Amino acid sequence: MAVSMEKLLVVALLCCVGGAVLVMGEGWDGKIVMPTAGDHAVEGEKKHHKPQRWAVLVAGSAGYVNYRHQADVCHAYQVLKNGGMKDENIVVFMFDDIAHDPNNPRPGTIINHPLGADVYHGVPKDYTGKAVTVDNLFAVILGDKKAVNGGSGKVVDSGPDDHIFIYYADHGGPGVLGMPNTPFLYADDLIDTLKKKHKARGYKEMVIYIEACESGSIFQGLLPAGLNIYATTASNAVESSWGTYCPGMTPAPPEEFDICLGDLYSVAWMEDADIENLKKETLRDQYLIVKSRTSNHKTYETGSHVMEFGDLKINVKKVDQYLGYNPANENASSPILPRDDLSNSLEGVKERHVSQRDADLVHFWHKYHRAKEGSPAKAEAGLNLMRIVNHRVHIDKSVELVGKLLFGASAGPTMLTSVRSQELPLVDDWSCLKSMVRVFESSCGLLTQYGMKHMRAFANICNAGVDPLKMGTVAAEACAVSSLGSRTWQPLTTGFSA
Ligand SMILES: *[C@@H]1O[C@H](CO)[C@@H](O)[C@H](O)[C@H]1NC(C)=O
Repeated sequence: MAVSMEKLLVVALLCCVGGAVLVMGEGWDGKIVMPTAGDHAVEGEKKHHKPQRWAVLVAGSAGYVNYRHQADVCHAYQVLKNGGMKDENIVVFMFDDIAHDPNNPRPGTIINHPLGADVYHGVPKDYTGKAVTVDNLFAVILGDKKAVNGGSGKVVDSGPDDHIFIYYADHGGPGVLGMPNTPFLYADDLIDTLKKKHKARGYKEMVIYIEACESGSIFQGLLPAGLNIYATTASNAVESSWGTYCPGMTPAPPEEFDICLGDLYSVAWMEDADIENLKKETLRDQYLIVKSRTSNHKTYETGSHVMEFGDLKINVKKVDQYLGYNPANENASSPILPRDDLSNSLEGVKERHVSQRDADLVHFWHKYHRAKEGSPAKAEAGLNLMRIVNHRVHIDKSVELVGKLLFGASAGPTMLTSVRSQELPLVDDWSCLKSMVRVFESSCGLLTQYGMKHMRAFANICNAGVDPLKMGTVAAEACAVSSLGSRTWQPLTTGFSA
């Protein structure tokens, strides 16, 4: 990777040693470069002298039924903005199809709480629509302007004294996070990107918050200590994460909304950040508060296990280093930490939430339920429900059949669902996992956001040493006989990632 002239010059100012310059910026290839007289012309530039905060916010879905993920990300932007962070330092990835969707009862706005104000205003449209891709996300994190394709071109142009915050919200599955444009984000590629950023001395410390089903699998057995990264996830490696403020649940969105407004772990950290004095709150305080709320008062009924990974010692640091400081909260009392004992009855009223994967069903069911008997709207909602259920049955049956064909009728199901020990990553050979998915999809159709739940099955097939070619034969057979299977099945634009 070429070192940009600008960066080289900046580094030249910082690291001149007796006329020789050690280029330590991103992509350093170990060469010692001699400065020319012209290099000193940029004396005024003080880039990276003052530690900066950076943030990357990612909504990984598209479609009105997934309203909540983009609502989360818009809210996150407002948290940072209230914290005094500048737009130049916040990179936003969102498909941007919600505010102006014809279904939106409050056109041009997005809310993230039943009583909440608009969170859409002012959000920088850095990477929208087709530009919301894994490749762009990695290029942005690495500060690699040249590798970016489309979008605003804004990247995390950070240095060794800077703090970086990354927040992601969407559907996921074991080892993967969704994106509104294919392909998925695979955990090993994310970890590689973080290692590169660390090697390039692109930050001092980094905090990552991830909301997705099975999000613990993104870091479990993969994120090594020593990268100065502290990560928390909405769920452990084997469970769903939860949508909140959903129709028919408590608390419910305003009457006119038929979608979930937010996600449980996400609103837990943001609603906490909205009211705390973040100069007083540590990352650990926030983790404990979020963990308690996301567990649904330690009942884990429609709730999940918030996990922490990486360099846990970072969690003694104050939250304002990442989210900034809002002077309006200067008099907030110290954070009230949840109690450790098990009696949760005093802590609050239990809420009801919807599993990430069922939120689209809830949406169309709600639409169906509310529409007038015999109306076109009722027919359409009913059809959408049926298509979603058919696709689920098709994917579930196909994967199950693949397992039986590979490992036998009795061993198959257990082989596919077995969970490895906590120290091990989901799969040893990630390229095998990626090929298995490709091969399966070529016979059985795209997994889509629902089908990500089967990633563990594909991982286990790899761990068992099955050759992708063999998988190809078996998937073709499974999907030829699967009763509802059809390669022509097309996801609804309103209901699924493309
Ligand atoms: C915090 O309290 C002080 C002293 O009562 C007061 O002067 C100040 O305005 C308060 N700040 C805010 C943001 O309310």
